[in-house]
Amino acid sequence: MAAAPQLRLLLLLLLLCAALSAARRERQPPVRLFTEPELARYGGQQEGQPIYLAVKGVVFDVTSGKEFYGKGAPYNALAGKDSTRGVAKMSLDPADLTHDITGLTEEELKSLDDTFNNVYKAKYPIVGYTSRRILNEDGSPNLDFKPEDQPHFSITDEF
Ligand code: HEM
Repeated sequence: MAAAPQLRLLLLLLLLCAALSAARRERQPPVRLFTEPELARYGGQQEGQPIYLAVKGVVFDVTSGKEFYGKGAPYNALAGKDSTRGVAKMSLDPADLTHDITGLTEEELKSLDDTFNNVYKAKYPIVGYTSRRILNEDGSPNLDFKPEDQPHFSITDEF
């Protein structure tokens, strides 16, 4: 028996949605894992090269914020590395340009989360994660890494 017209329309729509979502997945470049030297290649020193910056181990493409992070720009020091501590403390002191959040105050941690959510996640595409976010220096798993908490996380995109 032929399906009712509404049912056929629904099936057609479902097929269209599946095709569109597959096409979108293919267009997005897969996210990457960055070691420190790899991330350092995207510090904005070379004209035409994308500029990347990591906060909380998430690597953002901040090329559209060239006026902040490009060569000679005020926050260029934050680029090409995980600058979590500097962002938390609003500091450009080289000693603060690290992933290390040891000893930060509640206020600094709150400020870090605000900037992470309202500036970085809101403005810039995510291109990957720092390798440190997945593994500790000794190669053991970093138990703070929760894939399910990651924005846009999809196992097929990541690996
Ligand atoms: C005299 C000191 C500073 C002034 C007057 C200042 C001013 C500003 C202004 C006006 C913006 C917003 C720009 C916009 O959205 O168009 C901004 C953004 C920002 N500032 Fe500062 N800032 C100062 C120091 C710092 C320091 C020391 C840091 C260290 C981390 C910092 C980190 C940032 C970041 C991460 C953003 C967001 C940039 C983005 O949208 O990607 N600022 N600042």
